[in-house]
Amino acid sequence: MLVDFRRDSFLVSYGDLSRMGSDEAYLTWLARHAQDFPDGFLLFEEDPHGPVAQLEMRPRRFEEGIAGYVNLYYVRRDRRRWGLGRQLHEHASRTFREMGYASMYLKVSASNAVALAFYERLGFREHADEDGGSVRVLRLDLRGASVQDRTR
Ligand SMILES: CC(C)(COP(=O)(O)OP(=O)(O)OC[C@H]1O[C@@H](n2cnc3c(N)ncnc32)[C@H](O)[C@@H]1OP(=O)(O)O)[C@@H](O)C(=O)NCCC(=O)NCCS
Repeated sequence: MLVDFRRDSFLVSYGDLSRMGSDEAYLTWLARHAQDFPDGFLLFEEDPHGPVAQLEMRPRRFEEGIAGYVNLYYVRRDRRRWGLGRQLHEHASRTFREMGYASMYLKVSASNAVALAFYERLGFREHADEDGGSVRVLRLDLRGASVQDRTR
């Protein structure tokens, strides 16, 4: 399931799987980071078809120092637009804020219009471009209003 969710996310983001790497390398990476930062790897609610959403996040070093970083927000296709993505984000932003970080970052494909709309709604702002503009680095200030205030 974890691998399926990630695969779908790459397909939605980049249109193919060329940037994805092997499933084995991903599972090794996941096991290592889940050990270092257990709060950063969540599967949400199971229904009869299995988990409905997945979150991968961890602290990472940026120019400003250590900050929060989200590797993946994923909601199963049949459960999108039910507010689960927002719940994943509320967990991530609350965790990073409680850890004392001033901001959180993520990277998104410039062609992933749904994800860009989602992040815009949550209050993320453009921070930088990578790969000739095909990847956007977004940043959210965690010191301002609460996520709920910001998204109303
Ligand atoms: C991006 C994603 C996580 C959003 O999850 P979700 O559970 O559908 O999002 P929510 O229901 O919490 O939506 C929160 C807000 O985001 C915006 N949004 C979400 N989906 C949207 C869409 N398809 N079009 C426009 N805005 C959208 C809306 O403003 C929405 O609020 P509203 O429903 O009150 O209008 C989900 O679409 C997904 O898993 N996509 C595939 C994986 C992916 O691309 N992940 C991000 C890159 S790693």
